[in-house]
Amino acid sequence: MIYEEGPMRLAALMVTLLMALAGTASADDRVVDDRMADDRVADDRVVGGERVSIEDHPWVVYLTDASGFQFCGGTLVTPTKVVTAAHCAVGRTTRNTRVVVGRGDKNSDEGEVVRLASRPWVHPDYVAADRGDDIAVLTLRDAVDQEPLPPAGPEDGELYAEGSRARVLGWGRTGEQAPASRYLLAATVPVMSDEDCSAAYFQYDEATMTCAGYPEGGVDTCQGDSGGPMVAGGKLIGVTSWGEGCAREGKPGVYSRVAAYHDVLREQLDS
Ligand code: ARG
Repeated sequence: MIYEEGPMRLAALMVTLLMALAGTASADDRVVDDRMADDRVADDRVVGGERVSIEDHPWVVYLTDASGFQFCGGTLVTPTKVVTAAHCAVGRTTRNTRVVVGRGDKNSDEGEVVRLASRPWVHPDYVAADRGDDIAVLTLRDAVDQEPLPPAGPEDGELYAEGSRARVLGWGRTGEQAPASRYLLAATVPVMSDEDCSAAYFQYDEATMTCAGYPEGGVDTCQGDSGGPMVAGGKLIGVTSWGEGCAREGKPGVYSRVAAYHDVLREQLDS
């Protein structure tokens, strides 16, 4: 996840190189300092793409096929239920799907790999991500100990208000052409107004989607982050769904609006 604009990456790289030559402070510190010094970039945008610990985000999971290849994210909403995107779950079987819980580093063996108890539930109206209803629920064969994240409901309208800050997390690509991340990454993105989302995408449906990002782009989810959480107010408010490219100017990320699915989710979580 989390694409950074080319010029910023280049600048960061040059600073890293210079510092390496000078043999001073760690490269990471310098990158942060460099970006904070750039007053076109607000402080909170500096967090785009930073590593976070799985212990602080115990409810974020990733999905793999039987060979261990990570293809999507998800969120534990109860000890046995994972909310993900329909496009991550459609057509998948208990045989070729695994849920990896409590593992921030894909190359480690921390946490657990859990199988599904049954085929995924996929929203019955799902056709394609940009047509909405991109939401699904997986049932785990074994309950896990990690703390779940409650899904947003009808009372959480203000979390979707323009400018509301949301955290997005995942192991997806760090750029449109970049490989997926080995480590769990997170970024903060502001929720956009439905007007701005509709202006960005003709497919945008305010009843079932929400969109987030900066007008100029630069921070976003990307391929491989789908199905993963968008979090605000201690609740799951969105599911990473689609976007044109990643982090492009005028092209925010689009997320399934979890609160719109409160009743169907309740039904799935209680079954
Ligand atoms: N569809 C992508 C996936 O399967 C997620 C894309 C999100 N794109 C974006 N620009 N926010 O992983």
